[in-house]
Amino acid sequence: MSALDISLSVNGEAVTERVEPRQTLVDFLREDLGLTGSHVGCEHGVCGACTVHVNGEIVRGCLMLAVQCDGATVETIEGLSDSGEIADLQLAFEQRNALQCGYCTPGMLAAAQDLLKRAKETKIVPSRDDIREHLSGNYCRCTGYQAIVDAVESVAQARAENKW
Ligand code: FES
Ligand code: FES
Repeated sequence: MSALDISLSVNGEAVTERVEPRQTLVDFLREDLGLTGSHVGCEHGVCGACTVHVNGEIVRGCLMLAVQCDGATVETIEGLSDSGEIADLQLAFEQRNALQCGYCTPGMLAAAQDLLKRAKETKIVPSRDDIREHLSGNYCRCTGYQAIVDAVESVAQARAENKW
């Protein structure tokens, strides 16, 4: 099958590109758009390094094809970071040493922000178990997870105190 044109929104910008039908979303973001914050680990949907938001839901960029995102709204770690919406999470990760090599961090932050957005809707502060459950699809080879859970928990509590 030949290349196809797709049009989508990426981090608030309209993008039209020609892609091969078999190109994954994460390869499209990294190689065609230069958005290298989304990482490629397992390429099998297991590690979560490629996590991005598509139409407001977290997805594995390695399991989704770029052509499936025609007409979609995609947010990567670059967009989440530039908008300032995860500034508190980024600071908490830094302050609590919730990263070492940082390979998992963009995916962790994207997944954590998804959890906190859901918490904002329900006004229920996620427990440590909730946080572990929500991040269970994101592997970190370095930190042992304790510091990551600490960081997300601290931000959840701070956002709740600030009325989200
Ligand atoms: S690279 Fe996509 S889940 Fe591991
Ligand atoms: S900080 Fe190294 S994989 Fe998580």
